[in-house]
Amino acid sequence: MMLEGKVAVVTGSGPNIGGEIARTLAREGAKVVCVDFLDDRADVAAASVREEGGDAIGVSADISSPEQVEDLFRRTDEAYGRVDILVNNAAVNNEAGLLDIEFEKWKWVQSVIMDGTMLCSQQAARRMVAQGEGGAVVNTASTTGHRGKAGFIAYSASKGAVLQMTRTMAIQLAPHGIRVNSITPTQTGASRGTTPGGSTAPRAAKPKNIPLGRWGEPSDQAQAVLFLASPMAAYVTGENINVDGGLLALFPSERGPQET
Ligand SMILES: NC(=O)c1ccc[n+]([C@@H]2O[C@H](COP(=O)([O-])OP(=O)(O)OC[C@H]3O[C@@H](n4cnc5c(N)ncnc54)[C@H](O)[C@@H]3O)[C@@H](O)[C@H]2O)c1
Repeated sequence: MMLEGKVAVVTGSGPNIGGEIARTLAREGAKVVCVDFLDDRADVAAASVREEGGDAIGVSADISSPEQVEDLFRRTDEAYGRVDILVNNAAVNNEAGLLDIEFEKWKWVQSVIMDGTMLCSQQAARRMVAQGEGGAVVNTASTTGHRGKAGFIAYSASKGAVLQMTRTMAIQLAPHGIRVNSITPTQTGASRGTTPGGSTAPRAAKPKNIPLGRWGEPSDQAQAVLFLASPMAAYVTGENINVDGGLLALFPSERGPQET
């Protein structure tokens, strides 16, 4: 197993992508700390890992709070004594554009995506540096962080920042053997209605503009995270993988091959 003896912290371990990432890393031998702030999502994800024979704990924490992030990593230390992998997956959305967004909502989205990614990465990286055995951070961007979208000013700006944080963290941490990369999902799994602040509108059965002709599955994202977190990606840092069925490769004025 590729991640035997490793400890992974996965934020936003809800029922869609984060839970699948936790189980995927655990299947390769990682001990997993599942983190979420909503209901009992962290415990549910950890229980799903243990049901498969893996080792996991759930920690309920709001990653936009410096105090709660410090406590999260203290509890990780107590449970497993180290951190080797961090997956910054938690996010919220707010479907509002420049003309109508409320300032509080603008700050809320940034505080989860940007502050949360920075705070968790700082706590994890300090531990990885002290351990002296390298490590891997995988951030979660979005196709909306690469392209403009009228009604997503806060989410789009914050996800664009995640791409730039990935490069910046990768450069500083490279001398310590700590790799930092990102994945870029496009619409995946049951996200509609589960992301706090996100749309509850039903999704079309088939996408019109995704060249591979289907929506993403949580496992598509989790496999890419596994690759980046594992020794298979030993020489990859500061990089992003688009896990988007070819969406960002499509010339904007072209119709996707699946579109009729
Ligand atoms: N699913 C998609 O279509 C899609 C597309 C592009 C990017 N993404 C990104 O992939 C990641 C996972 O997406 P998902 O669809 O599984 O989302 P999701 O909403 O189903 O899961 C995100 C989880 O993060 C948790 N969370 C939010 N704020 C938090 C906080 N402050 N502290 C702790 N936990 C918090 C939520 O409770 C939720 O369980 C997100 O970063 C999202 O932006 C998803």
